[in-house]
Amino acid sequence: PQNVSVKELAEKLEVQSSELVKELMLKGIMANVNENIDFDTAVSLAEKYDILLEQQEEVDILEDFFKVEPSDEKDLRSRPPVVVVMGHVDHGKTSLLDAIRKTRVTEKEAGGITQHIGAYVAQVNDQKITFLDTPGHEAFTAMRMRGAQATDIAILVVAADDGVMPQTVEAINHAKAAGVEIIVAINKMDKPGANPDRVKQELVEYELICEDWGGETISVPVSAINGEGIDQLLEMIVLVSEMSELKADPKRDARGIIIEAQLDKGRGPVATVLVQSGTLRVGDPIVAGTSYGKVRAMMDDKGRRVKEAGPSKPVEILGLNEVPLAGDPFYKAKNDREARHVAEKVIEKGKVDLIKRSSTKVTLDDLFSQ
Ligand code: GTP
Ligand code: MG
Repeated sequence: PQNVSVKELAEKLEVQSSELVKELMLKGIMANVNENIDFDTAVSLAEKYDILLEQQEEVDILEDFFKVEPSDEKDLRSRPPVVVVMGHVDHGKTSLLDAIRKTRVTEKEAGGITQHIGAYVAQVNDQKITFLDTPGHEAFTAMRMRGAQATDIAILVVAADDGVMPQTVEAINHAKAAGVEIIVAINKMDKPGANPDRVKQELVEYELICEDWGGETISVPVSAINGEGIDQLLEMIVLVSEMSELKADPKRDARGIIIEAQLDKGRGPVATVLVQSGTLRVGDPIVAGTSYGKVRAMMDDKGRRVKEAGPSKPVEILGLNEVPLAGDPFYKAKNDREARHVAEKVIEKGKVDLIKRSSTKVTLDDLFSQ
């Protein structure tokens, strides 16, 4: 904890030193103007003048912890692309992922509506692709608002018999704002009313000009029901990701993002996380938003227990003390103590941020900078 002299504090608070000396005496503290007082005392004095003092040193702990040093070029390895499937309600996002995985998620979901994000890995020849399914776009928006860039490619699903709808436009805007590549999947081609040209024409208005219309946007006609175009769509994803040369350093401390999380009666907080760099291992102490804990167990997208997860791999983890929010970043800490300490500081800082809005703030760093 830092100390500050009565004189320095008086200058910052723009009051006479003698006035502070008097205030201190009222608190039973005898101090002359050159003497140091402790931080808590300084805070309570400042409060009298409606000024919030913040301990710079504590804030720095967070800055240090969250600071990410770039990896050496030589440590970078190519990683699978992370693909998000977006589009209007019922245009076939989940069915399309199903067709890709050749499993049947839709049937297992209550009412066929996606409850939350799922994350799956698909294998195309020797190339892996990580897919995220989204429920509407809330989680995606939450991630973006927290500055988290979780995805590389967005598959924009547009039903060929329905065309561009309000949430299609929302999805386009989200993807563009996040700077991710968009591949258009014109779905439900098996339907009698399917009109892919109308979809392409409608997309022009949103500056997505398909290749056969002289533009650069890749579009693939598909049917999630009969499997038409699925292989071609996967090839396009691989092609786009190869051009992007996606890389990450698997050797550093794990860092990533919470895709979804909930409280499980038997297992406690369960979080699906996407590792973005480094490798996450069972036993690692981590901080995720305001929650923390030691990774007790990890499951891959097929429910198999795994011991570690590298870049672009989604895993379900157990061991956090509370349920983090979708979009929260997670970081590996040095040890359990640091994990808890940082999470507590994040909570505290959240509170301080609230206070800051209502009053003037002078940090101790300001006090020492002259
Ligand atoms: P939300 O998660 O609720 O936003 O919907 P979604 O976009 O995931 O759509 P979903 O995959 O649940 O499909 C909606 C409906 O369209 C279901 O009845 C599917 O069977 C049907 N559907 C999806 N793809 C196709 C397709 O290619 N052809 C036909 N004929 N029907 C499809
Ligand atoms: Mg769905």
